[in-house]
Amino acid sequence: MYQLIKKLLFRLDPEVAHEYTISSLKMANNRFGKNYLNMLYKFNDVRLHNTVWGIDFPNPVGLGAGFDKNAEVYKSLSAIGFGFVEVGTLTPVGQLGNEKPRLFRLVTDQAVINRMGFNNIGAEEAVKHLVDYKQASIPIGINIGKNKLTVNENAFHDYIKCLDILYPYGDYFVINISSPNTPNLRNLQESENLRQLLQEIYKNTNELEMNGAIKKPILLKVAPDMEKEQMNEILQVAISQGISGIIATNTTLSRAGLRSKSFTTEMGGLSGKPLANRSTKWIREIYHQVGQQVPIIAVGGIFTGEDAYEKIRAGASLVQVYTGMIYQGPGIVKSINKRLLELMDKDGFTNIRQVIGIDSKK
Ligand code: FNR
Repeated sequence: MYQLIKKLLFRLDPEVAHEYTISSLKMANNRFGKNYLNMLYKFNDVRLHNTVWGIDFPNPVGLGAGFDKNAEVYKSLSAIGFGFVEVGTLTPVGQLGNEKPRLFRLVTDQAVINRMGFNNIGAEEAVKHLVDYKQASIPIGINIGKNKLTVNENAFHDYIKCLDILYPYGDYFVINISSPNTPNLRNLQESENLRQLLQEIYKNTNELEMNGAIKKPILLKVAPDMEKEQMNEILQVAISQGISGIIATNTTLSRAGLRSKSFTTEMGGLSGKPLANRSTKWIREIYHQVGQQVPIIAVGGIFTGEDAYEKIRAGASLVQVYTGMIYQGPGIVKSINKRLLELMDKDGFTNIRQVIGIDSKK
């Protein structure tokens, strides 16, 4: 059925198509709609269950940040079968993002280029959608960033403000310093900047916890565009400051190997199939460096069960999809989960936990 819908959606401007999708998911956010989505897409198997950071994940396939930026449709997305959903990126103050057009399909490459620029309604407004987040019955992550007009020296205020506002309303939090579409944001990945940022963030969450808040895992989302040495520095700083997990990776600035005729020179981050190997390479490296200390969420070019299996074998405890869903539709979650079970069966694994990092342990 999605093939037909896709034909229509792909005739539209990509951002308009996304808005239609969000509107349809909003309409499905009622008992009837969710039952219908459940019937079509839900897939449950105890062999896919895992507990990470003390949180129960019904399956390892989540939705990456940037799809449900304003936390409007995560309940419908849970009915589609996602094992978890990451909303955001949210910033303290709502902002419009970059000028349109800012989202481009590279169909031949099964890829997307985006330079959205953290368009979102702001943390306070998003809380209105998140107050009953537990009703989603899957874990909800909240990805946070800084406003475009906040200079890097003051960025920590923005992350702290987001955490102050949003801390009660998510199961885990993600410090996003890796979007290529907010000027200079990636400079926060430099060791000293990162150390200071995380120090300030943890000072604040310690205070929140002293005032009675329940401790939540805070993860760091990293870019794929760097040398090994820089990644290792980031990991060292992150671990020493107490980060609970790493999400790898955000979109890439690289355009290597693209075959599409249009849009390849558009500015922004590239996602989808061309990112897959680059992202897996980082999962291996990160697992090698810190896999014994913190769990990893893999994201980048996952379209099939094989793609997800490869990333879990490389060291990911969980995976996320985004561009894959644009090209394959909501059925992608069930199809990845079913295929994961077949691949596990073939290799003699009885639980997804046994698969994590198996290639790196050889
Ligand atoms: C994204 N991504 C993203 N990531 C993030 O941390 N905050 C965000 O706001 C966004 N926004 C966003 C918008 C669009 C249109 C896309 C395509 C992507 C990045 C996303 O979460 C993921 O890291 C990459 O897209 C790689 O995964 P896929 O798309 O190859 O599965």
